[in-house]
Amino acid sequence: MSLRPEHPAPPACVPTYDDLRGKTAVITGGSRGLGAATALALARNGVRVAVNGRDRDALAATVAALREAGGEAEAFVADCSDLAQVEILRDDVLARFGAPDFVLAFAGGGSGRPMPVHEIDERDWRSSLDHNLTATFFVVKSFLPGMIARGSGALLTMASAGARVVAGAPAGYAAAKAGVIALTRQLAHELGPRGLRANCLSPSAVLTERTRAHLPPERQAQMLPTFPLGRLGEPADVAAASLFLLSDASAWITGTVLDVAGGRVMV
Ligand SMILES: NC(=O)c1ccc[n+]([C@@H]2O[C@H](COP(=O)([O-])OP(=O)(O)OC[C@H]3O[C@@H](n4cnc5c(N)ncnc54)[C@H](OP(=O)(O)O)[C@@H]3O)[C@@H](O)[C@H]2O)c1
Repeated sequence: MSLRPEHPAPPACVPTYDDLRGKTAVITGGSRGLGAATALALARNGVRVAVNGRDRDALAATVAALREAGGEAEAFVADCSDLAQVEILRDDVLARFGAPDFVLAFAGGGSGRPMPVHEIDERDWRSSLDHNLTATFFVVKSFLPGMIARGSGALLTMASAGARVVAGAPAGYAAAKAGVIALTRQLAHELGPRGLRANCLSPSAVLTERTRAHLPPERQAQMLPTFPLGRLGEPADVAAASLFLLSDASAWITGTVLDVAGGRVMV
């Protein structure tokens, strides 16, 4: 799918924020897709990155790419839907990095195909909630005590356009991501007085290896009219928004949901 020249292209280079240099971040779901792109952008900004995922090989490849780009990064395998594994992840990160300045809880994804609510089975429903909402809760809950003790830092969570508009996402996934938004607002309210910020990204269709596999070019072309900016998203769009929401450039922004969505979502 070619971009028409009048449509804004994704950021051609990684934005830089001087205040990020020397900070530490943990990013879940960093082994591929949006998390890997954001981890790379953080590393290029001089942030030490603890990268989490479940797939050991994918994680190793991502960490190698970050190091090749001159970044400092380490891999941490854990399934974030399992509290015991998240606590081990937290302990490992604290031992090797200290309390992180930033937690990016990106792990998640759609499970199951869209279907009427009355046809969703219990297993799919629980899986959507476990891998999106509960995983986010476990990660935030586990890292917060260290961040609160430090008295500064920022959290970034990952919702989805599916939580903002009704547009074909599986209901369990949409509900889980809406829960992530509510959790983030609660965090922002609680943590502001403690010097911490919490914001949420809400992307629409962003082209990653996974989404490209599910969205053949004809389907992408059909979707284009729903995006006023005339293209689907790229991982670099999400990475650029993440850097902004972590940096001091957004120092007075908390509890917000940033729709990284090419204008498809305006709420
Ligand atoms: N791409 C989009 O269009 C889009 C739009 C809206 C929202 N999102 C959200 O953005 C996030 C990343 O999506 P993506 O498109 O980059 O997907 P992706 O390419 O499939 O990557 C998903 C990442 O999350 C990790 N992950 C999933 N469940 C996990 C768990 N329980 N514990 C630890 N890691 C887990 C995966 O790790 P392993 O592969 O190592 O297991 C992988 O690193 C998800 O939360 C997704 O819902 C994506």
